[in-house]
Amino acid sequence: MKVSRVAAAGLLAAASLYSVLPAAGSPAAAAGSHSPDRPLRELAGRQLLIGTAVDHAAYTSDATYRDRIATEFNSITAENVMKWEVVEPARGELDFSAADDLLAAARRNGQQVRGHTLVWHNQVPGWLTAGVESGEIDADELRGILRKHITDEVRHFRGRIYQWDVVNEVIDDNGRLRDTLWLRELGPGYIADAFRWAHQADPKARLFLNDYNVEGLSAKSDAYLALAKDLLAQRVPVHGFGAQGHYGVQYGFHSASEVATNLGRFEALGLETALTEVDVRMLMPTDNVKLQAQAQGYSVLLQGCLLARRCNSFTVWGFTDKYSWVPGFFEGEGAANLLDENFAPKPAYREVQAILALARR
Ligand code: G3I
Repeated sequence: MKVSRVAAAGLLAAASLYSVLPAAGSPAAAAGSHSPDRPLRELAGRQLLIGTAVDHAAYTSDATYRDRIATEFNSITAENVMKWEVVEPARGELDFSAADDLLAAARRNGQQVRGHTLVWHNQVPGWLTAGVESGEIDADELRGILRKHITDEVRHFRGRIYQWDVVNEVIDDNGRLRDTLWLRELGPGYIADAFRWAHQADPKARLFLNDYNVEGLSAKSDAYLALAKDLLAQRVPVHGFGAQGHYGVQYGFHSASEVATNLGRFEALGLETALTEVDVRMLMPTDNVKLQAQAQGYSVLLQGCLLARRCNSFTVWGFTDKYSWVPGFFEGEGAANLLDENFAPKPAYREVQAILALARR
């Protein structure tokens, strides 16, 4: 009997309610002999794009890292090399070389590519922030610069990006538009403009809103729902909503059904959804309880995505503890990924394998 992925995920959600350790009720246990030790992209099949962020420097220097990306994932996201400060380090000097490397690799590996990110308040080129601060660049010129950046970058990758994070982290944790250079200088209209310019440059790319702390039902995800409704009412070409999924074991997790309900409300507007930057960090050192809890963190987000009808990609923000942004940003925390620093599988990797295998059955 072929059960739809939603029904399969429903079974999974029921199964996972009972488990911290791979007890009889957990997906890993439920998959039992069906829990094939196969690469994630094989287990995901056509039901879901399973992706990872890729660190360009590690990609060029670490063969094991490179090989594992090719084997495990059918989607990649550039962790940093598509960001503005990298692609236009000096005004008018465009440099897509590192990103082109990753796209060439993706083509060789039969992978799709998520574009990250066109408009963000971080990793903005120094020449731009200095120009605005000094008053040398006024609002009209800034708007022109933003339009040129989006047009240049999206045109350069035209036809090779399936989802673009057009704007990243534009709402703060209180549900208000984030106070950024873009909002201060250009007003709230910069968001709609960014989507229109991206769409003009590549009408086929799916254009996403993307943020963190919006995995469940909250003032922040409510604000994104209102923003999406407003943009759609203005006939702005917004096609999707991305929840990053940066979890910490010490903070606990939503339930899979809450994640699915939240994504479902965006899908009810006609949008696609995606989990775009999943990782589950912990206070170091690791121990078995934290590692099992970590598996649950990955589990609820993956099941939430599988339960949602139009959640079509699930991306982890790095897959090995050897290369992770976490220790540099959260002192005393780490071990956030599916594989350890020696590329050995952690309980979280087995859990993700089992869920994909079960959902496919
Ligand atoms: O490339 C320079 C290098 O030349 C220099 O020697 C080195 C030392 O300072 O810095 C390198 O740049 C670093 C860059 O990563 C590339 O490694 C920046 O300092 C560092 O801040 C930057 O961190 C990235 C961070 O975004 C910036 O905010 C992380 O790798 C990246 O994982 C992280 O990703 C973000 C997503 O884009 C959006 N959502 C949250 C997520 C985690 O913060």
